[in-house]
Amino acid sequence: MGNEKKEEKEKLTIEEIENLEYYDFMAHMNAPFFNLGGFSSLDQTAEMCKISEGKRVLSVGCGTGTNSIYLAKNFDCYVVGVDIAEGMILKAEENAEKEEITGQVEFKVGDAYNLQFEDNSFDVVITSFVSQFLDLKKAFKEFLRVIKPSGYLGINEMYKSDEIPEIVAEKIEEGVNSLRDATELPLTLYTPTYWKKAFEEASLIDIKLEELPYKNISMKQLIKDIGGFKYLLKVLGRIIKYAWKSKKLRKRIGLLSKAKKKLFRNKEAKKYIGCVLCVGKKP
Ligand SMILES: C[S@@+](CC[C@H](N)C(=O)[O-])C[C@H]1O[C@@H](n2cnc3c(N)ncnc32)[C@H](O)[C@@H]1O
Repeated sequence: MGNEKKEEKEKLTIEEIENLEYYDFMAHMNAPFFNLGGFSSLDQTAEMCKISEGKRVLSVGCGTGTNSIYLAKNFDCYVVGVDIAEGMILKAEENAEKEEITGQVEFKVGDAYNLQFEDNSFDVVITSFVSQFLDLKKAFKEFLRVIKPSGYLGINEMYKSDEIPEIVAEKIEEGVNSLRDATELPLTLYTPTYWKKAFEEASLIDIKLEELPYKNISMKQLIKDIGGFKYLLKVLGRIIKYAWKSKKLRKRIGLLSKAKKKLFRNKEAKKYIGCVLCVGKKP
């Protein structure tokens, strides 16, 4: 994407920013990363998918490109990132340039349900905090189309436990509903059993699943993965600047932080939710 387009995006008026959809808005805020399992959960997913030197990997819903760049750098593979939000792709390209890895990654606007790639063209398709927003049947069918035979589909998403005390289950549902309202996105927290079933129904084989409960996730490590306190403060500063400038944005940011607090900072809820890694092979 050209520099002119990037400059245009940077120069959006407050009214235009107020009207951005959730992901374009987050891209404009320069949100670094959405995967709450951090790089260790990505490492684990990549290892389960046998990503190694020279493999062609497609990251669907690549966001600002952090995961794609990390995979290319640490696993020496070639990564194509697609995302439906143009703002995300602009930031991903900017980040790849900053990291001087443009020869090993490319980013394109694209839709998970209708990928612009040939059949059997990737060794691995990976999603990180993306499939949980999608119609799994429809999306997995399209992912399988572009995966080569004996290639892998790997997801790194959120889960809720199969068995949750009723009172905690209600709290989790409340948190999910608030997040849906704040983002206007169709988030669903599936159980590990449901994720596994979706892989089986897509005819994947050798399915492996790992759960990483949030209570075990180190915030210190996550902040380090995001780029450190300094970077996080910069993003927060940008968010506060916009909240200060616009009542509408203040309301939006307030709703988001309330929803995230309900789900991720509730001691009881945290015991029953986390990141799920699931990997299966295309026969
Ligand atoms: C929570 S973010 C995750 C971004 C990135 N994978 C990460 O871990 O930081 C979800 C991303 O999925 C993208 N997305 C949602 N629906 C999509 C679709 N149908 N096709 C492609 N991308 C989609 C959004 O634009 C957003 O960037």
